[in-house]
Amino acid sequence: MKFLRCDETAAWAALQGHYEAHGRDFYLREAFARDAGRAAALSFEAPEVFADLSKNRIDTATLKLLLDLARDCGLEAHRDAMLSGQAINGTEGRAVLHTALRAPRGQGLFSDEVHGVLEPMLAYAEGVRNTVASGIHHIVNIGIGGCDLGPQLVVPALDAFSHRGLTLHFVSNGDGHDLTRVLRRLNPAETLFIVASKSFTTPETLANAQAARDWFVAQGGRDVPRHFVAATANAEAAARFGIATIFGFWDWVSGRYSLWGAIGLAVALAIGAENFRAFLAGAYAMDRHFAAAPLERNLPVLLGLLDVWYRNFHGFTSRAVVPYHQGLASLPAYLQQLEMESSGKRVDLAGQALPFATGPVVWGGPGTNGQHAYFQMLHQGSDVIPVEFIAVKTPAHALAGQHSQLLANCLAQSRALMFGKTYDEALAEAAPSASQRIDARTLAAHRSCPGNRPSTTLVLDALTPRSLGALIALYEHRVFVCGALWGINSFDQWGVEWGKALAHQLLPRLASGDTAGFDASTAQLLRRLRR
Ligand code: F6P
Repeated sequence: MKFLRCDETAAWAALQGHYEAHGRDFYLREAFARDAGRAAALSFEAPEVFADLSKNRIDTATLKLLLDLARDCGLEAHRDAMLSGQAINGTEGRAVLHTALRAPRGQGLFSDEVHGVLEPMLAYAEGVRNTVASGIHHIVNIGIGGCDLGPQLVVPALDAFSHRGLTLHFVSNGDGHDLTRVLRRLNPAETLFIVASKSFTTPETLANAQAARDWFVAQGGRDVPRHFVAATANAEAAARFGIATIFGFWDWVSGRYSLWGAIGLAVALAIGAENFRAFLAGAYAMDRHFAAAPLERNLPVLLGLLDVWYRNFHGFTSRAVVPYHQGLASLPAYLQQLEMESSGKRVDLAGQALPFATGPVVWGGPGTNGQHAYFQMLHQGSDVIPVEFIAVKTPAHALAGQHSQLLANCLAQSRALMFGKTYDEALAEAAPSASQRIDARTLAAHRSCPGNRPSTTLVLDALTPRSLGALIALYEHRVFVCGALWGINSFDQWGVEWGKALAHQLLPRLASGDTAGFDASTAQLLRRLRR
């Protein structure tokens, strides 16, 4: 099926006109003053997630045009093509079916294969969680990219649901400092290593796995096959490595979407089979919402459209993600791979250079920490950076006062960014900490904040396996929506592959010192770094 790219549609031109007439000079303060129903009209419910989009530079007219854009681009047909297993990853000739990993038995494609891995994996996890019988108290997940960032997000996020007798460690970096730091604290008899790699060829992961096995043997560890397990789509390579327990997955699961199957083993070990099923169920509920909710109330669609509005019409180049929950501290890092590896593309599906921008830089960190670091720039810097706040109503701890303080900060920040402080307001207020020597007008210029800085607030009732599953699936589908409109392949990563190939070429030159054929800078650095 031939789809229109966003810039080929009538809605794109209409949006350009709308932006010139109403978008460029849209003021949130005025919009709230004008329309008492704004917050209600621009808030949406999806499974486990409430989203307040009202502090964004949109109104119902903008949304209507953005929805026209989605329809002109055939978004629903795009979505259905993915969900029905068509090979939408054209450059690799693959289907994209991470949604199949969370469908209940009998409900999704490849159900027998999926559940044929899931059931034994969860049974295995339960066996290890019986720490008296297994003797295991430490799990080391060795993997990088999608084999690391997902488990590394979810395990701490669901700490309240975790086995108290198991400590999870993550080793991803090819830098030997990472593994060394972890091994220093371990003893082989109590340790289980997961080698997580779709390809089982990633040099960083293989180097760490090899070093871990060498350490295990050198420390007197016995029974490598009992202490090393693999999550991989390349079972032969894992077997050659000496691993007997292998949980597989398939080429139709991209690395950065692989958390829901074998790559979730670390998560299953931490939270157990029942909670892992709830995690899948939350994602599945979001899948159903994405598949069936009308576009007007379809949260992944609305968030994706907002991303396109900001990136392509307002020209905003980044988005900050600020979870007000310590458990979600790694969400920005996870989203960096999900969004930037997926949307960091400059040609369309036909290989034509795009005349518009694609994915923004995604960054951030937990609130309130960010308030004492980069928030100054969000409030008064020269760039407008849309912010995504994530608030969780009920904490998993008993420190109620601290949680109220946390939520108050979250609300205060989004309000401050939106409302700003005018020069006159700054002039009128007291500033006890200001120098007595500065004149009031100069001070007011420093203290005023432009406001009109957009934000979205996502609210979860509690951070549970189910709500976290839904939240992550929401982000996955949002990235898909952007990719469909931009007409890109969100599921390949050729730039990364090229970087890997160059590293492979350089490795022997570090040993030999041969710089022939390299540019002067690389040659100089190579000489300097040789030992
Ligand atoms: O960073 C590129 C990438 O291909 C990711 O997409 C993937 O998650 C990561 O490398 C690890 O690859 P593998 O799972 O094959 O070890």
